[in-house]
Amino acid sequence: MSTNDLVARASDLRQLLTRYGHEYYVLDAPSVPDAEYDRLFRELQALEDAHPELKTPDSPTLRVGGAPLPAFSQVTHRVPMLSLGNAFSDMQAADFDLRHAELIQFDERIRRELGEPVIRYATEPKFDGLAISLLYRDGVLEQAATRGDGISGENVTENIRTIQSIPLKLAISQPPALLEVRGEVLMFKRDFERLNAEQLARGDKTFANPRNAAAGSLRQLDSRITAQRRLSFFAYAIAQVEGASWPATHAAEMDWLQQLGFPVVAADLRPVVEGAAGLASYYETVMQRRPALPFEIDGVVYKVDSRALQEELGFVSRAPRWAIAHKFPAEEAITLVEAIEEQVGRTGAITPVARLQAVFVGGVTVTNATLHNEDEVRRKDVRVGDSVIVRRAGDVIPEVVAVVLERRPMRPQAGGDLFSQGEEPQYPAYRLPSHCPVCGSHVVREEGEAIARCSGGLSCQAQRSQAIQHFAGRRMMDIDGLGERYIDKLVEYGYVHSVADL
Ligand code: IVH
Repeated sequence: MSTNDLVARASDLRQLLTRYGHEYYVLDAPSVPDAEYDRLFRELQALEDAHPELKTPDSPTLRVGGAPLPAFSQVTHRVPMLSLGNAFSDMQAADFDLRHAELIQFDERIRRELGEPVIRYATEPKFDGLAISLLYRDGVLEQAATRGDGISGENVTENIRTIQSIPLKLAISQPPALLEVRGEVLMFKRDFERLNAEQLARGDKTFANPRNAAAGSLRQLDSRITAQRRLSFFAYAIAQVEGASWPATHAAEMDWLQQLGFPVVAADLRPVVEGAAGLASYYETVMQRRPALPFEIDGVVYKVDSRALQEELGFVSRAPRWAIAHKFPAEEAITLVEAIEEQVGRTGAITPVARLQAVFVGGVTVTNATLHNEDEVRRKDVRVGDSVIVRRAGDVIPEVVAVVLERRPMRPQAGGDLFSQGEEPQYPAYRLPSHCPVCGSHVVREEGEAIARCSGGLSCQAQRSQAIQHFAGRRMMDIDGLGERYIDKLVEYGYVHSVADL
């Protein structure tokens, strides 16, 4: 091939791969099989290896990462990265005005300052990840930086290039001379689960939540590691435009960013609404949808939609006066393990349960959290006296996520002398009891099974009671008025031994 042919072929390959990548990672609608993408990718890699002068800063081959950096360099943000003021709602309050008092205040203040009767707000989820600023010059990604202190952050360009859904080149023939886009890097729940499973299998440390996993993955000096971590991105703001007209509303900004190839959240999660009532109904809808979303959010964000009105409102210290974060109740909290007890299920399955010092999490007060099974307790090494992170997401049963080891109660080690005395945990590691805590029958755990069971069958009061509850329950006979407590009493006093006695 002549030099001209090589240049043309490399350029075609870059264009094809960029398009296929966008279809796959942003639109979720691939038009070619993975094998075809891989074939073209290897062809481009081979071309660039043989002719390094063909490499360009927007080449998809950069997505695999490169040689480790000694350290991240610092960059000063051309436009400071701001934070947001917070509002909360008390979802336990029955009355709309009481429930959403802080939201109503926010809308009132804006209407008063602008002298407008009704304000239109652009809404969005508040992504639970890390803020990133992306700088495109003549349509090519030039620099990516973390928020840092808002004034300057770390140069993470190499790592950001490995995020498949972030365009290395804008999808527009006449790109703006300069475009600075802000958004959030995060890890989808399924990618987080997968990463933790891999970490566990390798004996490496697992991450407590997707946010930590995303932060840990982005702050790798070795971008080849970042490349393997499946990070995602959502754009949520434009910080600067030169050489193109800046859309007049926030909603139009998001549509434009989408056209340029950026991932933005699905349109039904970013409606433009009117007034406090519109905001509140968005908040309650998203709160309902939160557990089913593929990524974690810690609230929603409201932005005055009109950029002209945004400018009129301006800023206070480090935050815009035209936007606010409306937070959801935290899904995680720290509390103390007072005891570890076992629950016996309908089929005899024994589940260790942590009895906790009452804590407000996920919008309710929690006093128990499941520890799933013996192996889980061992793996997390949960002990009496421990401070633990409890999680309650949506209507899911609260669980213990991890122990805060620094707070474990310790005592001087037995047997040490005055000079070499170490410390040991005050409470022993958990062991599943050998006998059922309810009926005293042997507990058996079959080879290869995670679940241990009480061998007592229906002679075990717990299994009997649960079996009857199952029978009377909604999915079976749906017997009105025959609830858990009532059945427990009937079984306890010996009135009912089996469903036939009902
Ligand atoms: S806008 C000028 N929109 O929240 C306003 N921020 O406290 C700049 N965040 O560090 C932020 N989702 O990481 C905005 N849809 C969203 C967001 C969002 C998450 C984070 C962002 C920022 C923090 C602000």
